[in-house]
Amino acid sequence: MITRQRNNNVVWHRPLVTRQMREVLNGHKSLVLWFTGLPSSGKSTIAHALEKKLYDLKVRTYTLDGDNIRHGLCSDLGFSPEERAENLRRIAEVIKLFLDAGIVVLCAFVSPYKKDREKVKKIVGNENFVEIYCRCPVEVCKKRDPKGFYEKAEKGEIKNYTGVSAPYEEPENPDLILDTHLLTVEESVEKILNFVIDKILLKGEPSPKASV
Ligand SMILES: Nc1ncnc2c1ncn2[C@@H]1O[C@H](COP(=O)(O)OP(=O)(O)OP(=O)(O)O)[C@@H](O)[C@H]1O
Ligand SMILES: [Mg+2]
Repeated sequence: MITRQRNNNVVWHRPLVTRQMREVLNGHKSLVLWFTGLPSSGKSTIAHALEKKLYDLKVRTYTLDGDNIRHGLCSDLGFSPEERAENLRRIAEVIKLFLDAGIVVLCAFVSPYKKDREKVKKIVGNENFVEIYCRCPVEVCKKRDPKGFYEKAEKGEIKNYTGVSAPYEEPENPDLILDTHLLTVEESVEKILNFVIDKILLKGEPSPKASV
């Protein structure tokens, strides 16, 4: 059985290659783009479209997507408030590794509770964190419902479903708001790109956007 006791006999081994060195090698800084919003608001669609655009600009990226993470790292967790908090705590620790690796990490998670999002921000560092709110009326999300989960939740076949039987707390002061019922995917991607490109720019390096 696994006991969840802290082992004090661990000593941090200082690496020879630092985040800063990796950022110089990559030609850009690392950053977290955190997409939050109701299920079907468009987080994954926009994050993956943006990732392709960044890839074309030779920016090193990785996308952490809610459903995918729950297939592996967090496959033992459900959707109660406590389990959602643990899910995000683990993700925040993974993000820290990606930041250290010099990667721009795109994160698509419903992350319905403000305190959990704040906790992630605290773990990864405020200065590394861009909060993007995919805002979309729940009626539109229910119509989209590509996974059919709203329908199942309304029939009671899925418990604790955000937007039906679990709450969503809107971000108070996000860095970006995307009204995904009004903007096309391409418009949302462009809006994020314009906001983010300066943030990943290394001093003295040409903008990745200048190469296209
Ligand atoms: N303007 C738009 N922006 C984003 N998605 C849109 C837009 N118009 C239609 N859609 C569609 O809405 C759906 C959004 O689903 P998506 O899986 O991206 O949402 P999500 O926020 O990641 O949901 P979940 O939390 O369940 O993973 C997709 O089928 C997408 O094609
Ligand atoms: Mg998604």
